[in-house]
Amino acid sequence: MSDIALAVIGGTGLYKLANLQDVETVQPDTRFGAPSGPIRIGTIGGHRVAFLARHGEGHSLPPHKINYRANLAALQGLGATRVLALNTVGGITERFGPRVLACPDQLIDYTWGRISTICEEPGTEVLHVDFGEPYTRSLRAQVVTAAERAGVALVAVGCYGATQGPRLETRAEIARMRRDGCDLVGMTGMPEAGLARELGLDYACLAIVANWAAGAGPDPDEVITLQDVLDNVAAASAGLPALLSAL
Ligand code: HPA
Repeated sequence: MSDIALAVIGGTGLYKLANLQDVETVQPDTRFGAPSGPIRIGTIGGHRVAFLARHGEGHSLPPHKINYRANLAALQGLGATRVLALNTVGGITERFGPRVLACPDQLIDYTWGRISTICEEPGTEVLHVDFGEPYTRSLRAQVVTAAERAGVALVAVGCYGATQGPRLETRAEIARMRRDGCDLVGMTGMPEAGLARELGLDYACLAIVANWAAGAGPDPDEVITLQDVLDNVAAASAGLPALLSAL
């Protein structure tokens, strides 16, 4: 079975794809265990698309408890070779304010204690995959072109900083991340991107900015609320169906 044109992994606030039609549900198991929840397979514009909610459809899994390996292996087992990761993020630098969509081209990993390789089990071949360019260039280019064709505004670059969570960051942590070169901050970008590379999957991130990261916005004392996050994700996702159809 290799006819899945695209697999989509949804993040916070993105638990289903509005324009997925003729949906069937599968619950595969993998050599790494069970994925976060059921995988919905349907069609968009005649192409088969698989969708998985990264945190579970009821958002029951915190970022450090997600079985990233099982999620990717399950999608790959269904025949997917291209994965578009939807990641809800905070914005750090000027171009990345709330409701901006971005397709980052770099990342920095600040997570710890997560299983971040498929070479974990004794006896498995040790891989040292190239990760200089962490997102697949051709898939990123397709995302950027799809956004243009769909008339959806998208910042086509950016550096994603992956933090451990589930708490949000301190202002000092965000200031440090800005100095490091991060434009965006999220909790689920790694180890997912690295595992996708190890598994040989094409992988790109479509980041949805839900809020200014701590201290990064015009009001440095602003408190980030879940309601703001969800409202901004909902608003910023309005163009997603058109973008996915174009993709
Ligand atoms: N920090 C980390 N992850 C996030 C944020 C944030 O500010 N907003 C949405 N996901």
